[in-house]
Amino acid sequence: MHLRELILRNFRNFDHTELSFPSDLIFLIGENAQGKTNLIESVFLSCTGRSHRTSKDREMIQWEKEEAYVRTKVDRKLGDSSIDILLRAHEKKRVRINGEPIHRLGELMGHLNSVIFSPEDLKLVKEGPVERRRFMDMELSQIRPKYFYYLQQYNRILNQRNNLLKEIQSNPSLAKTLPVWDQQLAETGSFIILQRHAFNISLQKIAREIHSRISRGSEQLSLVYRSSIPYQDAALEEIRQNFLRELEIRQKEDIEKGRTGKGCHRDDILFHINGMDVRLFGSQGQKRTTVLSLKLSELEFMFRETGEYPLLLLDDAMSELDSARQRMLLEYIGKVQTFVAVTDQDQFPEIRGRDSQVFQIRSGTAVPEG
Ligand SMILES: Nc1ncnc2c1ncn2[C@@H]1O[C@H](COP(=O)(O)OP(=O)(O)OP(=O)(O)O)[C@@H](O)[C@H]1O
Ligand SMILES: [Mg+2]
Repeated sequence: MHLRELILRNFRNFDHTELSFPSDLIFLIGENAQGKTNLIESVFLSCTGRSHRTSKDREMIQWEKEEAYVRTKVDRKLGDSSIDILLRAHEKKRVRINGEPIHRLGELMGHLNSVIFSPEDLKLVKEGPVERRRFMDMELSQIRPKYFYYLQQYNRILNQRNNLLKEIQSNPSLAKTLPVWDQQLAETGSFIILQRHAFNISLQKIAREIHSRISRGSEQLSLVYRSSIPYQDAALEEIRQNFLRELEIRQKEDIEKGRTGKGCHRDDILFHINGMDVRLFGSQGQKRTTVLSLKLSELEFMFRETGEYPLLLLDDAMSELDSARQRMLLEYIGKVQTFVAVTDQDQFPEIRGRDSQVFQIRSGTAVPEG
């Protein structure tokens, strides 16, 4: 996959910028608060229809403006495409692919894929399960539009069920309508669980290999997918039945609490190094290595699933890594079109000589060097 062109209008601190990227290695160099992450964000938005750092589209629209516009042109094995995203302050965003409006955001998925890596990704191993569910969801949504649809539906149904649970507290006769929601929740939820299960198995194989290389054979990384719905055979119908049973068993408690206690919204992944839980016992370095292994595994996973590498977006990701880990990351640069945002001109002398493009990012402008 190759991002050939990026046009921004009123996107964050960029008024109007048109950039083309003939190269596979692009450096975005600038001091703090100049717009490096904003540029990366605009690319991520074109991939997923969302920002990687805010859930509020409006924040991406330049202050005092009504609309922001991002256009990308992408070269792919299956042909070229253009993606237009119009963010509007008071209305829903509009997305066009090759000039044709799409009606559901899921249709955008897969046209431009990316893996983003920034120091904040350390949250993946440090913080609570929300980050790890997001990790699975971002990856699976990009390669399987159906997953994205089911996830959206699941979240909608979950919300409605939770509202109903609260209403039942004051009006118990409403409890008879619960099974309708339970059925739908189990239907969409079992699909999601099965996909996550398979994803973790594939990712684990790749991550183990990569992690072993980074740690020079001394560490074995494993991923353990933890769903709050038990299953044995990982068969869709089995999971659906168990899901329903869990909802029934917990019904009283759910009503008391006014929320649904079991389901994919409670899933998690455990990361183990040589059998030890990295989140609880891992050193800072082991946590960083784990995240790097996961990110590189995402690239490989997408390649195996789609036949094309996604874009790699590195937002200040190198500064936190020691030289051995940096080298590992650099191995991938070259296979994959990579955007590297950095503050320091002199970082990575090893790769600056390669066929790369450099943009100086200064208060919302990107000026090509040379
Ligand atoms: N909606 C917006 N409209 C206009 N300017 C914005 C908007 N949102 C953010 N900015 C500005 O963008 C700048 C931050 O840009 P960005 O986060 O891309 O910086 P950066 O170059 O990545 O810096 P760092 O090296 O610190 O990460 C800030 O100056 C901020 O005020
Ligand atoms: Mg930044």
